[in-house]
Amino acid sequence: MRSLEPQQTLDGSGTYRNPELGELYHTKSGAVTESIEKYSKPLKVWLKESPVILDICFGLGYNSAAAIDLIRSNNNNSRIRIYCFENDTRILEKALDASPGFESYSLIQRFVKNFLEKKEAKFVDQNVELVMLFGDAREQIRNVKGEADFAFLDPFSPGKQPELWEKELMQDIYNALSEQGSLATYSFARKVRDNLESAGFKVLPGPVIGRRSPSTLAFKYKKTL
Ligand SMILES: C[S@@+](CC[C@H](N)C(=O)[O-])C[C@H]1O[C@@H](n2cnc3c(N)ncnc32)[C@H](O)[C@@H]1O
Repeated sequence: MRSLEPQQTLDGSGTYRNPELGELYHTKSGAVTESIEKYSKPLKVWLKESPVILDICFGLGYNSAAAIDLIRSNNNNSRIRIYCFENDTRILEKALDASPGFESYSLIQRFVKNFLEKKEAKFVDQNVELVMLFGDAREQIRNVKGEADFAFLDPFSPGKQPELWEKELMQDIYNALSEQGSLATYSFARKVRDNLESAGFKVLPGPVIGRRSPSTLAFKYKKTL
């Protein structure tokens, strides 16, 4: 396996380039900005009491950290549970050295360290429960049954990783979400929206951050902007 190459993004935060796919783990316009603005913020994760989140394609864990920070900074001190889906230990190892500036990042790092060094998949501290579902997200998703409130879907691009944007995974995410569940993803590709809709989601455009097209929000219930 080749090593990941560090890359600075335009908001000053760091990410990596995956050498096999030739793609960054975040948008070059800003890794931390992307994780806050495209996932937790548009889904308003802090409004839910005891939120359960699916962080699909966890990587450096920025999306989870942004969620914890936003929930806590909005005075929501309830229990947070995050199921983290990842299949590559190389990027988890990089999380141990990253310093993206999230308040909660040391929690993420202790969780990842325990997973890598002691094979402990579950970590609980400060009323936050983090669960590593290591392996192919398309299989691991079936271990979560209708209990999640939010899903962050953050694979490499549909062009490089089409298998993670297929209807089948969208359907399994739909089933893993509760009746009031919602999803955010950075891609606004037609095929992505079509697959989300055929899985049963109602799809809306998300914010425009660092690129010309919006991201995508998907809801199990009817919602208008
Ligand atoms: C675009 S990056 C996401 C970055 C991440 N959200 C972060 O904050 O760093 C995609 C991630 O998905 C992981 N991945 C790729 N295929 C996967 C699969 N089949 N199952 C689970 N994770 C996968 C990659 O290893 C990578 O970490």
